[in-house]
Amino acid sequence: MTNQVQKTILLGITGGIAAYKMCDLARQLVRAGHKVKVVMTQHATEFVGPATFRSLTGNPVALDLFDDPAAPINHISLAEEADIFLIAPATANVIAKLAQGRADDLLTTTALAYQGQLLVAPAMNTQMYLDAATQENLALLAARGVQLVGPATGQLACGDSGPGRMVEASDLYSAVEECAHTSNLLAGKRVLISAGPTREYLDPVRYLTNRSSGKMGIALAREALRAGAEVVDLVLGPTAEPVPVHKRFTCVDVAESARDMRNFMTGMAPFADIIICTAAVADYRPAERFVTKIKKQQSPQTQEAAESGRQDMQTLELVQNPDILAELGRMKAAKTLKSGAVLVGFAAETDNLEANVRAKLESKGADYIVANDVSRTDIGFESGENEVRIFSKASPEKDTLLPKASKTQLARQILHIVSK
Ligand code: PMT
Repeated sequence: MTNQVQKTILLGITGGIAAYKMCDLARQLVRAGHKVKVVMTQHATEFVGPATFRSLTGNPVALDLFDDPAAPINHISLAEEADIFLIAPATANVIAKLAQGRADDLLTTTALAYQGQLLVAPAMNTQMYLDAATQENLALLAARGVQLVGPATGQLACGDSGPGRMVEASDLYSAVEECAHTSNLLAGKRVLISAGPTREYLDPVRYLTNRSSGKMGIALAREALRAGAEVVDLVLGPTAEPVPVHKRFTCVDVAESARDMRNFMTGMAPFADIIICTAAVADYRPAERFVTKIKKQQSPQTQEAAESGRQDMQTLELVQNPDILAELGRMKAAKTLKSGAVLVGFAAETDNLEANVRAKLESKGADYIVANDVSRTDIGFESGENEVRIFSKASPEKDTLLPKASKTQLARQILHIVSK
């Protein structure tokens, strides 16, 4: 059987008993038409010999940084050639090294140089898996966009029973195949995303802002890269969230005010095929920005008046900010965006969701609006999860509810819908 999406798959095998399952996986991937290369750690060779993988894949097995002095630098060429890199079984030790960016053998050096989709299948004793250090390392890898496959729960080689068992070869095969198909979704597309809050300064120390963390937009950027986008540009408001590190990715993180964000978004939009506005942009800003810190008024007041807060009250005058999405909608109508460009807005709603979103679809000129209920504390702002409804201007009958899931999973689903 020949697979329609043929990729170069790099299998990184570390020292665990589950290494034997990789023989079956290598055979399945080769049968499906993929080019399969294997890199093994020294310990992995104690479980399965390199000759087995050489026979199964028809390719030499990489073992050492200095395998062949005449060949191109091994870790760089392996990293550049691979479309998908799966490390399985991944021991607690290699997971820790990946989390720290350590590169002390060919496998970890290749992983550090590799810029594509990395899949990791943990395999270890239950206590090692549940240990806080391993859990933190895995969370760090997931936050960086590494796809974790498993582990499964069951009987382990050491006799214990619990989570830590590597998933079966068929599960690894499915994960690689899904990745191979997804990685072509946005091929040749340039994606522009806004994310995070804006800050509207009142004086040098005070500003108006909101609770957006940028997580939703960053997840979209990461998934767009994973889906093979040619370039992903992220215009990011102030946030401490980690952003992807990738040669096809740029992050403009100087956007503070709505006007900063507007300048970058409208400047970059004409080059984008898909534009997604997840940023929570302040609708208003203080009418005046004071150059020096505003001092408290020192007028005398009674205790009661001070507590009620009404005596000596200050009034903050606000003026309206530009509406970036609406401006991009006007650019689309005026055909100053790329032909066929798709414009996607988000909507943060607390009530009357459907009516408000339908109105926004019209007033902002977007092709899609992704709505979330921000009155809920378990989703939306700051949370790692969300639940959204996608409204389409062209086909209202295709409005879709995406049930509560991680922002990463939702980002993947949103990109599938808006890139069709
Ligand atoms: O960042 P996280 O913590 O992960 O949270 C994600 C989120 C809740 C911020 C996100 O899912 C979300 O709902 N983003 C939209 C927030 C928002 O500003 O909604 P809105 O309904 O006020 O605006 C509608 C659309 O117009 C949005 O695409 C917004 O970017 C855009 N807009 C709004 C005002 C403005 N002046 N300019 C704009 O472009």
